[in-house]
Amino acid sequence: MEKILVTGAGGQLGTELTEALAGRYGTSAIIASDINEKAASRFDCTFEVLNVLDKDKMAALIDKHEVTQVYHLAAILSAAGEKNPLFTWDLNMKSLLNVLELAREKNLNKIYWPSSIAVFGPHTRAVDTPQYCVMDPTTVYGISKLAGERWCEYYNKIYGVDVRSLRYPGLISYKAAPGGGTTDYAVEIYHSALKGETFNCFLKADTHLPMMYMPDAIKATIDLMEAPAESISVRSSYNVGALSFTPEEIYNSIKKFHPDFKIAYSPDFRQNIAASWPDSIDDSVAREDWNWKPEFDLDAMTKDILENLVVEK
Ligand code: SER
Repeated sequence: MEKILVTGAGGQLGTELTEALAGRYGTSAIIASDINEKAASRFDCTFEVLNVLDKDKMAALIDKHEVTQVYHLAAILSAAGEKNPLFTWDLNMKSLLNVLELAREKNLNKIYWPSSIAVFGPHTRAVDTPQYCVMDPTTVYGISKLAGERWCEYYNKIYGVDVRSLRYPGLISYKAAPGGGTTDYAVEIYHSALKGETFNCFLKADTHLPMMYMPDAIKATIDLMEAPAESISVRSSYNVGALSFTPEEIYNSIKKFHPDFKIAYSPDFRQNIAASWPDSIDDSVAREDWNWKPEFDLDAMTKDILENLVVEK
């Protein structure tokens, strides 16, 4: 039986992916972990406190629970990372190497590790960014994700570790808050709409970014992890696209449901990060290899979030 350890389970992605994995493989197959012990209350499955820089503790948890797969989600995101670049590098990089080394030493069956559109940069083709292209990330987060992709491919080619990865666009969800990304505005905007507040956007009105609604991100992750190993031709990380919109466009989508909603713009340092990232993603390799196809468009996502998000006024 597979046993899955999830790191960073208390984060925006971890909260929903852990729940989805428990739903699919059974609560007893999942061990959620996070550095924040308060995250424990979110889960029905076993929970362990884990600092991902502590390789010995990670090794002990793998042994204790007879773990066969790790979903290594713990990381510092793009905007937060710029406030502490060297620690961001250490955390994002060393923790991945801890996981890859343990996968090699303990012969684990599979590893999942998220990469990001942050691996791209100002010289990358911005429209329909291809799987293989110039990559010159400008944030420490993006640099760590690009280096991490190279390490994943290395551990696969040299040691045979079955590691799989997706370059997520901005992930939009309503169950758990994002933690310091450049795409967070597209989550916060729904909270303002439901509270009846004017939304103050930290990006310019016409800034295109690739985005994805969480149910599609969960589906992509599980589909990738369940695909036969021989169909996985990319061992760095797959481009996956879903939505591409600007703050003005998501605002107009929300206005269809809340006609009085107002937006103001005060771009900050995150505008430069957003400007260096793609507008839209060519994910034809993922579509070809393991049949990736997103389900939600912008208005379907808006409707679903506005119907389900509960805010305190
Ligand atoms: N959503 C992430 C960020 O903005 C992108 O990987 O940092």
